[in-house]
This record gives sequence, C-alpha cells and structure tokens, in this order.
Amino acid sequence: MLFGRTNVNKFLVEEQRRNPALAGDFSMLVSDIVRSCKTIAQSVSRGALAGVLGDAGSDNVQGEAQKKLDVLANDSFLHHCEWGGHLAALASEEMDEILPIPATHPRGAYLLVFDPLDGSSNIDVNLSVGSIFSILRCRGDIKNPTEADFLQPGTQQVAAGYAIYGPATMLVLSVGNGVHGFTLDREIGEFLLTHPDLKVAPATREFAINTSNERFWEPPVRRYVDECLAGKTGERGKDFNMRWIASMVAEVHRILMRGGVFMYPRDTKDPSKPGRLRLLYEANPMAMIIEQAGGRASTGRQDILQLQPESLHQRVPVILGSREEVERLVRYHSDYDRGEDKPFTSPLFGTRSLFSNDS
Ligand code: F6P
Repeated sequence: MLFGRTNVNKFLVEEQRRNPALAGDFSMLVSDIVRSCKTIAQSVSRGALAGVLGDAGSDNVQGEAQKKLDVLANDSFLHHCEWGGHLAALASEEMDEILPIPATHPRGAYLLVFDPLDGSSNIDVNLSVGSIFSILRCRGDIKNPTEADFLQPGTQQVAAGYAIYGPATMLVLSVGNGVHGFTLDREIGEFLLTHPDLKVAPATREFAINTSNERFWEPPVRRYVDECLAGKTGERGKDFNMRWIASMVAEVHRILMRGGVFMYPRDTKDPSKPGRLRLLYEANPMAMIIEQAGGRASTGRQDILQLQPESLHQRVPVILGSREEVERLVRYHSDYDRGEDKPFTSPLFGTRSLFSNDS
C-alpha cells in the first residue's frame, strides 16, 4: 500500500490537467492552503501541551472573543498563502478588512476567503473544530483588489473545502468536479485520498439545529422540526434523530458521511442579523461542497449559491444537506410566505411548537 494512495498534490495536478480553466498556479495555491491546515492540525492536536488553549484577549470584527487558536490559525493561513504569488488578496473571519497581498510579494489571479477556525467554542473542551476556505477569481484590476472583488455569488467559486480536526484530520475539497476527502497521514505528513466522490444521501432521518433558539424561529422551521419530533406517530411517519455539535464543519462532515440536514435558519434573536453564519466563508463554501455532493443548500427562500453578497462579513440563514429534506423546508417556507402554511398539531405536545403554543 506504500505507493497505493493518491496524495492531494497529485490529485490537484490531475484536476488541473483535466480542467484548463483552473489556470496557472491553482494547484500550488491549494497546496499552500493544505500546508496551513497541516500546521493548524498540529497545534490543535497538541492542545494544552502547546499552550494554545484559552482566550487571546481580543475581539474580532463580529464582536466575538478570539481564542488563541483563532489567531494562530489565521496567522497560519497568512504565513503559508500570502507570499506564493498565487493570490491578489485574502479575507478572513478574523480580519475586519480584506488584505491585499503586500507589495513585497507578487500578486496572482485568485482571491482566498476563509474561516481559519470554525466552531472555536469547542477548542477548550477538546471537540472537533475545522477550517473553511473558498477560492474566487480576482476580476478587474488585480493590481489593486478591493472588498468589491470578493462580493461574488457562490456559483463563481473556483474551489471550496474544509479541514476537520477530529479524531483524524481530514481535508474535504471540491474543485467543481465532485467532492473528495483526504485523510492526514501524520507519519508521512501527507493528505491521502481516502473518500473519493462523496455523495450526500438524498433522504435522511437526522437533523441538526440549536433548539435553544426555538422561540426565535420562523413558523416554517417550527413546522419542520415539530414534524420530525412527532416521529412515527406524526405527519412524517418515521422517527428522527437529532445532533448538534456547535461546529458547522463537523455537522457538514457528518452529513457528507451519512446524510442529514443542518439548519441555522433566519430567526428574530437579533433583528439586525438575518442569520448566524457568514455568507462568504461559511455558507458559500459549504453550499458548494454539499451541492457538488448532490445535496442542496438554501436560505429557505433562495439558493445560497445564487445570493449576491453585499458585504464581506454578511450573515445569512443556512439550511443544507440531504436534498429531499432541504426541498421540504423550502416548500414549507414558500407555503408560509403564500399564507398556505398547513396547521400542525404535534401529537407529542398538542401544540404547534416544541415547548409552547405561541406560533
Ligand atoms: O460561528 C459559527 C459557528 O460556530 C458554527 O460553526 C456553528 O454551527 C455555530 O456557530 C454554533 O452556534 P451555537 O453557538 O448557536 O451553537
């Protein structure tokens, strides 16, 4: 088996040969991203031994307290990706503004946008976290990229992926030709192709949502979740299981492996935020992965990949995963918007909602 598996570099070179639109140094750019993820994997796996747990003592642009590993992961992406000459600019969850490649390095034709460490509330309790990235082409004057150059719909992504730092570290990648999973072999320091051509099961009995927000949800989401909870005795006629890891990377990975639907829907918790997750570096790359694997990704009212971004750190509602369930949720949103929401009485609670009858 010594030479049996394809490593990620060989995979990328072959993809680039297959698709001439992946111009120039595309595979080298992804290799730089891969190196960033390997460095992060190393720090994550050493945890307290590396002194990387706990707060950094600063806030990011979203007003969220940064963890030491958030900062370290961001630095890892900058360190590995900014000098190679493949990028015109980078943007990150952890940086208020875009970072044009400094004049000390050549500028390339791509833009990189990333969430260096997703699910960072899990770091200090030693649960799975991940990194998410999206690669766009830099349109216009690559000599002087601005935020506007990043505001491209998800359909324009050249590649997207994530690394999950779980029991094993995996890289999951799409360059527009399906979704492929690589496992980090720590002995040789390489990501090896272990999960070619991943597909999301079209149907599922598993959903993921933070039910502590139930009182803030819109009626179509309540309807869906109520029906799942009613199980065999309700509308759906089958029992459902629920999971919530509080790390989007981990939820999406589980859905790729065994199906499911993930929801961080529009809610009324903070009226200034139409959703929790960020469009450019969370929703779009994950939507590309899920759709390339045959699933679906929607806000409930629009396909995520069709959204025209308005700002770098824009938030959107996210519903993604097994096609049949996402389509059902889209239908429930449209029923509701047309005033044709079917009244539903949960046999479990005798109400329309999980814990109250206020819908
Ligand atoms: O900021 C993103 C994120 O950490 C996701 O990875 C995760 O799905 C979600 O937030 C967790 O949200 P909550 O804190 O509501 O469980």
